[in-house]
Amino acid sequence: MSQTKVICFANNKGGSGKSTTCCNVGYSMATEGKRVLLIDGDMQMNLTLSFFDDETSLTFAKEGQNLYTAIRKQKDLTAFVQHTEYEGLDIIPSSTLMSGIEYDLFTMWQREQVLRNGLKAIRESGVYDYILIDSPPTLGCWVMNIMCASDYLVIPVEASPWGLFGIANMFEFYEQVQRIAPDLKLLGIAVTKANERKNYFKQTMETLGSLENVRLFDTYIRTDSTIEWSQDNSKPVMAYKKSSRAAQEYLALAKEVMEYAHR
Ligand SMILES: Nc1ncnc2c1ncn2[C@@H]1O[C@H](COP(=O)(O)OP(=O)(O)OP(=O)(O)O)[C@@H](O)[C@H]1O
Ligand SMILES: [Mg+2]
Repeated sequence: MSQTKVICFANNKGGSGKSTTCCNVGYSMATEGKRVLLIDGDMQMNLTLSFFDDETSLTFAKEGQNLYTAIRKQKDLTAFVQHTEYEGLDIIPSSTLMSGIEYDLFTMWQREQVLRNGLKAIRESGVYDYILIDSPPTLGCWVMNIMCASDYLVIPVEASPWGLFGIANMFEFYEQVQRIAPDLKLLGIAVTKANERKNYFKQTMETLGSLENVRLFDTYIRTDSTIEWSQDNSKPVMAYKKSSRAAQEYLALAKEVMEYAHR
């Protein structure tokens, strides 16, 4: 039985490419024959909407078939798994009610470990090779739950003038979480929305490349409108247009992630 690796995508900076990266790395892993479970940890439901239309996504939210319901009731997550239309790729959808999760966690026993406890059975079953978790752009008890449930953290960073603003808070938060989850490792930083012709792209790569003990993935994802079209069609970019540059880049990034997660 394989050992399931849990990887979360987090950055308190909004719009840094967390959901896009979680969706497309997950899909790429599945095309490589891996069994993947995606978990949508954000009230914006962007990961859920990457696979289902608005109506279906809202039905998961309304009928309690979502992560928020599971966490609030401190349930095992097995019954909340939905199949996507793709082989080897499942998802636990989110709900807009996730907006209240911090309040709900506040009174819970072992409140940083609720997600980890809910995932225990799925993890131990060895059904999945990878579990990928998408985070909201916040740093609170819920994101702490996401990190405590993970073996690895990937930080997507947007190659933009403000992309690096606040990254120090992210590192500080990671170090704080490590005190209660000492096995959590920073797998690396993935640069997204890159435009090689812009100066701030070079600056971003240089700054991130010079950080000690932090891996910068060789693969960076360039700005590509195919990504937005794929999201508009509720599909991962590779399922929408396999020949696109973004699809190839996300496959390359997924291969790097898998390589390092097994070292
Ligand atoms: N490589 C890319 N090329 C073009 N657009 C992109 C690319 N990556 C992401 N986007 C767009 O940028 C926006 C932000 O991306 P995404 O939603 O993945 O970020 P996020 O970090 O999950 O945001 P949030 O913090 O709100 O959860 C989205 O509208 C998405 O379509
Ligand atoms: Mg997101």
